Amino acid sequence: MVTKILKICDKSIEEGANLLKNGEVVAFPTETVYGLGVSAFKGECVKKVFEVKGRPSDNPLIVHIAKIEDIYTVSKNVTPLSLKLLENFAPGPITVVVEKSDIIPLEVTAGLDTVGVRIPALKSSRDLIEKAGLPLAAPSANTSTRPSPTKAIDVFEDLNGKIPLILDGGEAEVGIESTVVDCRFDTPVILREGKITLDDIVKVCGCCERIGKQNNEKVARSPGVKYKHYAPTCPVYFLNEEEKLIEAVIALKKKFSKVGVVSPISHLDLDVIQIDIGNSTTSYMHDYFSVLRKLEKQVEVILVHLPFEKLRSEGIYNRVEKSAVKFDLNNF
Ligand code: TXA
Ligand code: MG
Repeated sequence: MVTKILKICDKSIEEGANLLKNGEVVAFPTETVYGLGVSAFKGECVKKVFEVKGRPSDNPLIVHIAKIEDIYTVSKNVTPLSLKLLENFAPGPITVVVEKSDIIPLEVTAGLDTVGVRIPALKSSRDLIEKAGLPLAAPSANTSTRPSPTKAIDVFEDLNGKIPLILDGGEAEVGIESTVVDCRFDTPVILREGKITLDDIVKVCGCCERIGKQNNEKVARSPGVKYKHYAPTCPVYFLNEEEKLIEAVIALKKKFSKVGVVSPISHLDLDVIQIDIGNSTTSYMHDYFSVLRKLEKQVEVILVHLPFEKLRSEGIYNRVEKSAVKFDLNNF
């Protein structure tokens, strides 16, 4: 199959929408990362997304809708909490988990009776959903275990020949995936944190918990969290302390000829390959996955420096911890 990349515009959205109506899989941009969309109504076609990505079949997909009212189509128990979060944060990088409606096949939710629902902020994503006239089930458009794609070319790198069309909307604005929140009960529970933080949700709801910080059996576990994630083609290590950077680089250089470093401190004098990631939470979030993809082509090992005191973001910690192993000098 030839994979086309088309700049997103009215004409290409129409082409994408027609493919989606015919049950095909189309990659499209969102403000968080690129998504791999398919009609959320057609279980048979949803299976293709799992095949194309190599995704474990027990990991559910998020359903993307264009406007708040559409949640009533995909859920049969729209809770006040889910509406409150959507009213405050959507369109935007939030996914609310609620009870699914009967129209959503179990292939989408990997057998769960709940569904994650999200309204992307990027207007062209919503235009695509509206033109197709369908809610779109869409995971991130990377091969399973690879870093999430923040550019059309990242999708092409992973899925060339496997899907007919990639709609190119430029670089994703946020750079990491949405915050997923279980909204079935009175207290919001974060299953995966993104740009929208626990504090942002507390400001709106008065309370919020993180999965793992309590022991509530009723809370939906996010099956995705147990899998290997975001791995480039070379090994990745991380550390938090700036003062340990030099000894870590020296140790890695004994074993690997080319070392890449990701750090908010620019121009480290360490004779390594460094790609600027900026020094703010926003820029680190924006560039993290794309820097991993750039470095894997140039080096044999990547060392990620994530100083706690400078970058206070659970979303970033989570992505770094999943993509990398904590550096331990004793192992070198
Ligand atoms: O920003 C995003 O969320 C991107 C863009 C494309 O919208 N999508 C994305 O999808 O990151 P994916 O499939 O890569 O990650 C979805 C996460 C997984 O960890 C999955 O387990 C969880 O959301 N999830 C989806 N539906 C769920 C449900 N019903 N209950 C619990 N967790 C769910
Ligand atoms: Mg993903």
